[in-house]
Parts: sequence; C-alpha cells; structure tokens
Amino acid sequence: MKEPRSYYNWLTISGFILAVNSLFLILVFAGIMLLLGRSYSYFGVYIYIVLPFFLSLGLVFILIGLVKGMKRKETGPADEDLWPILNLNYRKQRSSLIKVSLALFIFLVASAIGSYRAFEYSNSVGFCGELCHKVMEPEYTTYLSSVHAQVPCGDCHMGEGSGWFVRSKLAALKLVYSQLFNRYSKPIPTPITDFRPVQQTCQQCHWPQKFYARKLIHQVSYLADSANTEWDISLIMKTGPKNSAMGLREGIHWHINPDYRLEYVSNTANRESIPWVRLTNLKTGKVKIFVDKDKLPDESILRQFETRTMDCMDCHNRPSHLFLYPGDYIDQALLTGKIPTRLPFIKAAALNVLKNEFSTLGMADSAIKQGVESYYRIQHPMTWLKEKALIAQSVGVIRKEYARNNFPFMKVTATSYLNNIGHRQSEGCFRCHSGRHRTSTGEVISGDCNLCHTIVEQGTPNRLDYTFLADSMEFRHPVDIGNQWKSRNCSGCHSKLWL
Ligand code: HEC
Ligand code: HEC
Ligand code: HEC
Ligand code: HEC
Ligand code: HEC
Ligand code: HEC
Repeated sequence: MKEPRSYYNWLTISGFILAVNSLFLILVFAGIMLLLGRSYSYFGVYIYIVLPFFLSLGLVFILIGLVKGMKRKETGPADEDLWPILNLNYRKQRSSLIKVSLALFIFLVASAIGSYRAFEYSNSVGFCGELCHKVMEPEYTTYLSSVHAQVPCGDCHMGEGSGWFVRSKLAALKLVYSQLFNRYSKPIPTPITDFRPVQQTCQQCHWPQKFYARKLIHQVSYLADSANTEWDISLIMKTGPKNSAMGLREGIHWHINPDYRLEYVSNTANRESIPWVRLTNLKTGKVKIFVDKDKLPDESILRQFETRTMDCMDCHNRPSHLFLYPGDYIDQALLTGKIPTRLPFIKAAALNVLKNEFSTLGMADSAIKQGVESYYRIQHPMTWLKEKALIAQSVGVIRKEYARNNFPFMKVTATSYLNNIGHRQSEGCFRCHSGRHRTSTGEVISGDCNLCHTIVEQGTPNRLDYTFLADSMEFRHPVDIGNQWKSRNCSGCHSKLWL
C-alpha cells in the first residue's frame, strides 16, 4: 500500500527514524529489566525519561512534516489558509486520518502509563540513592544498614501531598543540576532547612499517641590496650515513664508532649550551639526562658536567627544516615569477631591510623595497611612476627569498615554529621542539658546523670558492678581521668577521631 506523498519529506522521515529507534530501545531496556527481575536505575532513567523525550520529539517532527507536506500539495493556497485541507472523501486521506488517530490514541495511553511510572520511579530508592550515586552515596550507604532500610527515601524526605512533593522535587532538581555541573557543596549541608514537618513524615509510622516506656541499652566497648579489654555498660533509658500508659508525662519524650511548646535559637548553622531556650506550658500559659550566658550573643544578633520549635529531628537527626566514629566501628568489628580480640593492641593500632583523614579511598587503603603494619613492626615486633595472618585479616576489615563510614570524595566523616542522641562524641542533649542554661530566677535545665538514664551495670566482664533495676550507680570512667568526666563534657575529649 502506498502512503500519501505528504509522508515523504525529510522531517517526517527523520522523525519516524527517531521515534522508532526510541521505541525499540525502550522495549529492549524494559525487556532487560523484566528479565533481570529488578529495577536498575540507569535503565529507569532511559525508559522513563530520556527515551520518551526523544520518542515525543520524533512524533512532533512527523506531525510538523505531515502538516508541511500537505500544505505543499495545495496549489497556491489563499493567505488565510494556514491549515491543510482535509477531505475525507479521498480514501488515502481517510485511512491516514484513522492511522494517525489510532497511533495518537495508543501514544497517549502509553504516555499516561509511562508518566505515572516515571513519577513512581522518580520517588524510588533507586532513583534517589543510585542515580545521584556519587553525591548521595554516603546517605545511601548508611541508610542501607539502618533500621529504616526498608522505608523509601520519600517517606521521610517528602511525605504525602502535592505541596511538599513539589518543594522536595525542586530541591532534588537543584541537586541534579549541581551534580551535572559539579557545583554541589561537599559534604551536602545539614540540617536540611526545608525538611517536611515530622507530623507528615516520622509520625505517619511512629504514632505519637502510643509512645514508649523505658528501654535497656547495653553497650560494649574495647579499650586501646594490649588485651583490647572489653568494657560493658548497661543503661536504662528513660524514653518515657515506667509504664507507657502514662503517655508523655515524663521522660525523654516529654519534649514532644502537646501540652508544652519548647523553642530554641541556635546561633550556628548546624544547630550545635544553643544559647536560648523557651518553654511554654500551653495549659497554664506559664513561660520559662533559659539562657546560657557564656554563649548568648547580643539581643540584636540573636534575633537574626530562626526560633525553632523542637521536634523529633532535633534529637533523631540521624535515624537513617549515621556515620560512626572509628572507635565505634572498630568496637563493632571486635564484638562480632571480624577483628580478633586476641590480636594484642589491634584497637590501638587501628585508631592510630584512623585518626587521620584521607582524600581518596585508595589513599586510605594504603595508609591503613602501612600504618597498622608499621605500628606492629616498630612498637610490637614480637606480635608482628607471630601474628602476620591475623594482622592481614584485620587490615582488610578495617579498610572495609572505613569505607562504610567515610566518603572522602564528598568529604564525609563522622564529624561532618554529628548525632544529637546522647552526648559522648558531640554535645547532643548537652546542648541544653549541660547545667549552664538558667532562668533569671536561677532554675536550671538539669544535667543530672540520672535524669535521662540510670546505669545498672558497668565494668569488665570478669569484674562487673551491677545494681537492682530500681537502683542506679555512679558512672565509673573506664580509664582513670580523675573527676574530669564531671567537670567537662564527654565530647570535650571524645569528639576526637582517635578516641
Ligand atoms: C527514616 C527517615 C529517613 C529516610 C528513610 C531517609 N532519610 Fe535522608 N535524612 C533523614 C533525616 C532526619 C536527615 C537529616 C535532616 C536534618 O538534620 O535536617 C536526612 C538527611 C539526608 C541528606 C542530607 C545530608 C545529611 O546527611 O544530612 C540527604 C542527601 C539524604 N538524607 C538522602 C537520603 C536518601 C538518598 C535516602 C534513601 C536512600 C534517604 N535520605 C532516606 C531522614 C531519612
Ligand atoms: C514508613 C514508616 C516509617 C517512617 C516514615 C519513619 N520510621 Fe522510624 N521506624 C520504622 C520502623 C519499621 C522501625 C523499626 C522498628 C523495629 O524494628 O523495632 C523504626 C524505628 C525507628 C527508631 C528506633 C531505632 C532503633 O535503633 O531502635 C527511631 C528512633 C525512629 N524510627 C525514628 C524515626 C524518625 C525520626 C523518623 C522521621 C525522620 C522516622 N523514624 C520515620 C518506620 C518508620
Ligand atoms: C529530646 C529528644 C527527643 C525527641 C524530641 C524525640 N526523641 Fe525519640 N528518643 C530519644 C531518645 C534519647 C531515645 C532512646 C535512645 C535510643 O533509643 O537510642 C528515643 C527513642 C525513640 C524510639 C525508639 C523507642 C524504643 O523504645 O525502641 C522511637 C521510635 C522514637 N524515639 C521516635 C521519636 C519520634 C517519632 C519523635 C517525634 C515525634 C521523637 N522520637 C522525639 C530522644 C528524643
Ligand atoms: C533545645 C534544648 C533541649 C535539648 C536539645 C534537649 N532538652 Fe531535654 N529538656 C529541655 C528543657 C527546657 C527541659 C525542661 C526543664 C525544666 O522544666 O526544668 C527538658 C527536660 C528533659 C527531661 C525531663 C523531663 C521530665 O519532666 O520528666 C529529660 C529526661 C530530658 N530533657 C532529656 C533529654 C535528652 C535525652 C535529650 C537529648 C536526646 C534532650 N533532653 C535534649 C531542653 C532540651
Ligand atoms: C539530658 C539527658 C542525659 C543526661 C543529663 C546524661 N545523659 Fe548519658 N546518655 C544520654 C543519652 C540519650 C545517651 C545515648 C543512648 C544511646 O546510645 O542511644 C547517653 C549515653 C550515655 C552513656 C553510654 C555511652 C555512650 O555515650 O554511648 C554513658 C556512659 C552515659 N550516658 C553517662 C552519663 C553520665 C556520666 C552523665 C552525667 C555526667 C550523663 N550520662 C548525663 C542522655 C543523658
Ligand atoms: C579527659 C578526657 C575524657 C573525658 C572528659 C571523658 N573521657 Fe571517656 N575516655 C577517655 C579516654 C582517654 C579513654 C580511653 C580510650 C581507650 O583506652 O580506648 C576513654 C574511654 C571511654 C570509654 C570506653 C570506650 C572508648 O571509647 O574507648 C567510654 C564508654 C567512655 N570513655 C565514656 C565517657 C563518658 C560517658 C564521658 C562523659 C561522662 C567521658 N567518657 C568523658 C577520655 C575522656
């Protein structure tokens, strides 16, 4: 069957080639994805975004070509006859119209399905985590080993509804743009200033009306000595009251009790320094303002900073992207046996290298091998001679753990993203609970060691002190530092990478 001559012009033909090729590639990629049984984000970009663009472009070319071709056929059209004349009494024109309409219909249905899939795809973990691979690899890697590994990025970063969807998509577009032109800041700045309100994210799953009681936390650490001495601490965290039926009346989650409003001003971008806190009892209207006189700037300067109402994120700022300190990931490797505790001084040897920062993973790899080996060769030559195999095994593990928590190309280490839960490596709770924040009448935000938790067990496994659950004991620092753990914040020492 012969098509009308108007089909044959260079625009229609090139449009046709473009469209058919794009369609063919879409089908091939979709086939590969089906065969492999899971989504590969790079295919996704082509199937849902790049190729459909070229397919549509091809179709537009064909249409323009057709219109132009038809017009050319008319001999000497009147000036106002801008559109081709369609006469359905001609069989050829009739059949082309049917074909074009049918093709258009199929195309529209397909694009409707396609754009829905594209929308879904652009919200998927693969798109966020793998496509923006380089930029977000630190967040993606830590996410995969977090409790939230099965929660899609969008459930925390976007939530439901269109308003925030558009806002976070725009933010994401900016990120894609800055990635293309290599203009993103390294590391990605935190906190995210337009994080969606927690009511629409965290609280969709963590129902605030049903909160938690107390929780036993057992922490195992190892000292940097010859025996890698194990040191255990068990604490009862007063997340809520003794019995969860008491609700948010006391305990740590009291901060989100709807009867109170807790606001603060931070005078640093990362919200680490908090000189001003206001507590309002919404039932009685009573207001208390606590200030840290040592850090408080002038009233006029203070007013330039945002007054933020405290929510989940002010404590749980790392629920799925926690970057561990060297001391902590080495402890985990020792606890799980990946690094043998019977290799003398291995924690000391590891920390001795990991206190440095490296600009590439390759450099870290060779520095770790060299550093650990020379540490043994020089300081403990007998161990070096006897334990070469264990040392080599440990070097492998240290490299791997380093790479899971440090991302030199994004300049990300544990110190880039501080964890606000706790107070050992960063000020965390002590940003307000250091005992320095007072009202004008002398009331203090308490820093009492038993306010948030009680210690029920501590010591080495063969010399463990413990109490009854209802009691508590005074903290004993694992190595003798006198009274310094009382006189200064833990983070004064423990924020260092070598601890
Ligand atoms: C359980 C909730 C949750 C999930 C799931 C989640 N994030 Fe986050 N994300 C956060 C929070 C909270 C922050 C820190 C926000 C702040 O401090 O303002 C954050 C921060 C970030 C940042 C900014 C840099 C930083 O580390 O602070 C990036 C980038 C990011 N997330 C990417 C992702 C990607 C990609 C995924 C999915 C692979 C994901 N997130 C999944 C809660 C989540
Ligand atoms: C889509 C549901 C979902 C969303 C959204 C979500 N979480 Fe979770 N969260 C979970 C699940 C599931 C667990 C694991 C429960 C378990 O295994 O005990 C969890 C566990 C936790 C825990 C306990 C961690 C631990 O180590 O025991 C904290 C804290 C937490 N989430 C905080 C948050 C915060 C903060 C946000 C918002 C930024 C958030 N979650 C958003 C589902 C969610
Ligand atoms: C004042 C700081 C603070 C605020 C605000 C806060 N939390 Fe927590 N939350 C904690 C601490 C501390 C723990 C216990 C320590 C831990 O589990 O690591 C905890 C524990 C949890 C747990 C685990 C409970 C368990 O027993 O397993 C979840 C889930 C959780 N919080 C969710 C939330 C959500 C959702 C919000 C906001 C509505 C919130 N938290 C607000 C400090 C806070
Ligand atoms: C922005 C400042 C701020 C931060 C950060 C903060 N708190 Fe508080 N917290 C307060 C204030 C203010 C009070 C109430 C003091 C008062 O009423 O005298 C309080 C009270 C408490 C109480 C006593 C609640 C009760 O009445 O039973 C606990 C427990 C507590 N905080 C734990 C924590 C923990 C754990 C963290 C860190 C994860 C933390 N807080 C971080 C400001 C803060
Ligand atoms: C405002 C609440 C608060 C106060 C006050 C407080 N702590 Fe903590 N402490 C925490 C939280 C939260 C954690 C972290 C629990 C976790 O890892 O999930 C923690 C963890 C610890 C740990 C476990 C080791 C670690 O850091 O991971 C020790 C030990 C400890 N605290 C000792 C103390 C001592 C000693 C004092 C008094 C000088 C004190 N705490 C005061 C909230 C508090
Ligand atoms: C004067 C500095 C200093 C202060 C302040 C300090 N520590 Fe330490 N801490 C050390 C040193 C040094 C070690 C021994 C490191 C080793 O042998 O591995 C240590 C070890 C520890 C360990 C054993 C695991 C590890 O990281 O090596 C814990 C747990 C600990 N400290 C908790 C705390 C807590 C909680 C506070 C605050 C209440 C605190 N420390 C305050 C210096 C300090």
